[in-house]
Amino acid sequence: MTQYLFVLGRNPDLSLLEILAYCKRKKIRYTMIDSNEEIAVFDMQGFDEHIAIKELGGTVKIARPQPELLNYKGTKNKVIYAVNYIKADPVQMDQKIKKLLAQEELKGTRRHGKTRKIDPSKAQNLDYEFIAYRNTIYTTTAVSNPKEYKLRDATRPIYDPLKVISIRLAKILINLSEAQREIFDPFCGTGTILQEALLMDYLVWGVDKEAHAARKNLEWLEQRYTQIKSHWQVFQGDATDLRKFKTIEAVVTEPYLGPFHLGLPTVEEAEKIADELRILYRGTLMELAKKVTGKVVIIFPELKTRSGDIVSLDMYTIITRSGFKLAPILSSIQNPIPYIDKKDKINRYIYILQKDKAKEIIKK
Ligand SMILES: C[S@@+](CC[C@H](N)C(=O)[O-])C[C@H]1O[C@@H](n2cnc3c(N)ncnc32)[C@H](O)[C@@H]1O
Repeated sequence: MTQYLFVLGRNPDLSLLEILAYCKRKKIRYTMIDSNEEIAVFDMQGFDEHIAIKELGGTVKIARPQPELLNYKGTKNKVIYAVNYIKADPVQMDQKIKKLLAQEELKGTRRHGKTRKIDPSKAQNLDYEFIAYRNTIYTTTAVSNPKEYKLRDATRPIYDPLKVISIRLAKILINLSEAQREIFDPFCGTGTILQEALLMDYLVWGVDKEAHAARKNLEWLEQRYTQIKSHWQVFQGDATDLRKFKTIEAVVTEPYLGPFHLGLPTVEEAEKIADELRILYRGTLMELAKKVTGKVVIIFPELKTRSGDIVSLDMYTIITRSGFKLAPILSSIQNPIPYIDKKDKINRYIYILQKDKAKEIIKK
C-alpha cells in the first residue's frame, strides 16, 4: 500500500465521496486514514495518481509522503520549491524541509513564500511542491490542470458559460454514478457531461430537446482528442419519453432548472416554475425507473426569490413515488449533497438515487 494525500476542492464532502466511488469502480484497495474539510489521506493499492488527477473533478492535488526527494529528476543541485501549509506550523515545517533538502545536498530557492495554499495554475515551473500537513511533509506528485479545462470549455463550438455545467462538477457526478460502462444524460444540453464521460472511456448517450449543440461539440471533441476510443450518440427528444432505450446503466444529468431570469423571481413566479419543474422531474424519473439498472446522479434545484424566501420542490415525495430511493452514502454525509454558490440564482442539490427494489416487488 502507498500513502496518498488528496487536496480536496471547494466542496470537500463531494470530493471525498467522489474518491471513494472512483476507488470502487477502479477496484482500488484502500484504507482511509484521515479526512477533513481540506484533505483526505488514504493508503491505496493499484492507484495511479497521474491518471486519477485527470478523472477526479473534486481533487486539486495529490501528494505522497516522501522522506527522500524521490521525484527530483534534475542534474543541478539548485531547486525551486514552494510549500502549502495545512494544519501545520510553518516555522517547524520550514526547518524540516530545509533539513530534507540539505540531506540530499540540494540548495533550495523558495517561491510563493507568503502563500499558505498554492493555486494549481501557479504550481508550474517548480522542482518541488511540498504539502506540510500536520507533522508530515508530502511532495505533490500530480496537480489538476485548470488551463486545460478552460481551453476545452471555451474553445468548443457551442459554449455559454452561464448555462453549462462546469467540467469539474461533470466529472464528480460521473464518478458518483459508479457506472462501469455507460453514461446517459437525458438533458445533455451542450454535452459537457457526455464529453467528460467519453474522455473517461464510457459509452455515452444523450437526449435533449435541442440535440444540435451536443452533437456539434462531441464531433469537435472527437477530432481534437484522438485518444477517444469509445462511442457516443445524441438524440433529439424528450426526457419524459425514453421508449427508444432498452436499458440504461447509469444516468448523470443536470436537468432543465427553470427559465433563465435576469433577476430573481417573486414567490408567486417561483411557485409557478416549481410546479412546472415538478411535472418534468416526475415524468423523467418515472420513465427512468423503467430503464435504469444502476444509479441516477441528478441535480435538483431549490428556487431563490426576490424576497429572500426559498421555494422547495419537495423532491423526496416525487423520488419515492417514481420508484427510486436515496442511495446510501457515507454516514457522515447527507444525500442530497448541497452544491451551493451564493452568486447563483438557484441552490443546487446533488441527488444520488437508486431503484427502490422493495417497491418493485410490491408492484409485481
Ligand atoms: C441545464 S441545461 C443542461 C446543460 C448541460 N449540462 C451542459 O453542460 O450544457 C438543460 C437542458 O435541458 C433541455 N431540456 C429542457 N426540457 C427538456 C425535456 N423535456 N427533455 C429533454 N431536454 C430538455 C434544454 O434544451 C437544455 O439543453
